Amino acid sequence: MSKVWAALNEHRQELSEVSLRTLCDNSSRTERFLHEVCGITVDLTRHLADDRTLDLLLNLAEESNLLDLRNAMFAGEHVNTTEQRAALHVALRNRSTDPMLVDGDDVMPQVRDVLDRMQSFCNAIHSGSWTGATGRQITDVINIGIGGSDLGPAMAASALRPWWISGIRTHFVSNVDPSHLSDTLQSLDVESTLFIIASKTFGTQETIANACAARRWVTDTLGESAVANHFVAVSTNAARVADFGIDTKNMFEFWDWVGGRYSMWSAIGLSIAVAIGFDRFAEMLDGAHCVDNHFRNTPPETNVPVLLGLLDCWYRDCWGCQSRAVLPYDQHLAQLPAYLQQLEMESNGKQIRLDGSKATHGTASVLWGASGTNGQHSFHQMLHQGTTMVPCDFLVAAMTSSDASDDRHAMLIANCLAQSEALARGCTLDELDAPSDLAPHKVMPGNRPSTTFVYRQLDPFTLGAIIALYEHRVFVQGVIWNIDSFDQWGVELGKKIANRILPGLLEDGAPDGDPTTLRLIQRIAELSDGQNR
Ligand code: F6P
Repeated sequence: MSKVWAALNEHRQELSEVSLRTLCDNSSRTERFLHEVCGITVDLTRHLADDRTLDLLLNLAEESNLLDLRNAMFAGEHVNTTEQRAALHVALRNRSTDPMLVDGDDVMPQVRDVLDRMQSFCNAIHSGSWTGATGRQITDVINIGIGGSDLGPAMAASALRPWWISGIRTHFVSNVDPSHLSDTLQSLDVESTLFIIASKTFGTQETIANACAARRWVTDTLGESAVANHFVAVSTNAARVADFGIDTKNMFEFWDWVGGRYSMWSAIGLSIAVAIGFDRFAEMLDGAHCVDNHFRNTPPETNVPVLLGLLDCWYRDCWGCQSRAVLPYDQHLAQLPAYLQQLEMESNGKQIRLDGSKATHGTASVLWGASGTNGQHSFHQMLHQGTTMVPCDFLVAAMTSSDASDDRHAMLIANCLAQSEALARGCTLDELDAPSDLAPHKVMPGNRPSTTFVYRQLDPFTLGAIIALYEHRVFVQGVIWNIDSFDQWGVELGKKIANRILPGLLEDGAPDGDPTTLRLIQRIAELSDGQNR
């Protein structure tokens, strides 16, 4: 263990004696713990950390060469070492005129070219000049994709619902469970529905199976020639797109230096652009670019993603926190926890370090959450009085994006602020007005840390900024843990085994699997009367 880690662990013992009440009541606390970035106030004052904590964590960043690695990412170096690739999603939202290089080539001309094509496509859909095969205007757009080809666009489209272009509805189908597609299609008219098949590899089993089913739905009614009007593709793999039967002139390209879970800024965001219009999509890129500039140019001590990522490591490794909760007090961000689960847990849920050795520290926390105030009537009991400490993120807009003129938005804000205050300060035995036999049940231990993000309104710029903050935060965690945040080898084995099991479910061949799998296949066959065969 390095000297800095040892010092952090020792310091954590000292902090056991300090209460968050004392820390928060220090009037100079805001100097180092309250920050503004791209219109977002990031309040870190309710963290179990003092000046010495921050100094030690910043030493840890230095010892881990964080700034060099950050610069390497922005320079397009192969920071994804196990796949020998750059991770240059920042180029997708580079709104400056500066070049961005991958292997010596400026990628900005191709990035701008695809953005231009996305803009023309959106305009054609919105103006009605792109029609279905029978000449009907497109009213419903279904994105078929999974993981990074679904979660980011689905989350963003839902977050930006107040900006939806009228007359266009966007839908997202990801699950290979046939119900997902059939439930979505139920109320739609084939003549006015367009599919975006979104897949980086264009080989993902679930996406291709759903895309084939969607094509059958279209061609059964409108014939094969209708594919050209009703399907476009987003992918890095033109050959597979063509094999599927989509003309590559209807394909929007991206590149292997864009990781799946970092791809909503690329053509994978086409469904977002269709939903809110290209200009609003560009504002989302602007928001992310603003945070990129902050991350790239701000000294570590005031660099918000750096501080957030370091605090995450502090709780994970020095306090033993196994999970973190994301609690948006913003109904439009209800899908944020699901999106962040892939971002953080697929990026940093690893146990092998860059040099091939086994990690000696814990890595990604379990990330979970739900929108407030709903969670208050469910799992917040555990956050307040459970035996496990769960650091929380609270997110809240100063202004509602609804047209309500009553008190509900004020209630929402009051509840958000109340939760983080209650978690931090708790309620002691002395402060209770309760009969003695009930008193222990009512004590609130407090000392539970949280970050509060406050923004004016959840507009496209702000959403872009929030997501980029989280992306860079995850990068910082990965650097401290010395792991490759851009690969995902852990998902492969399950895919391989599923491919081995599938034929035994479909055909008369011998089922394949270990004894438990075989027993379950047998039971499923009995229960389904062989329906899957
Ligand atoms: O299985 C995991 C994964 O590879 C994710 O990383 C990715 O976002 C998702 O599958 C979808 O992949 P694709 O865009 O190639 O269909």
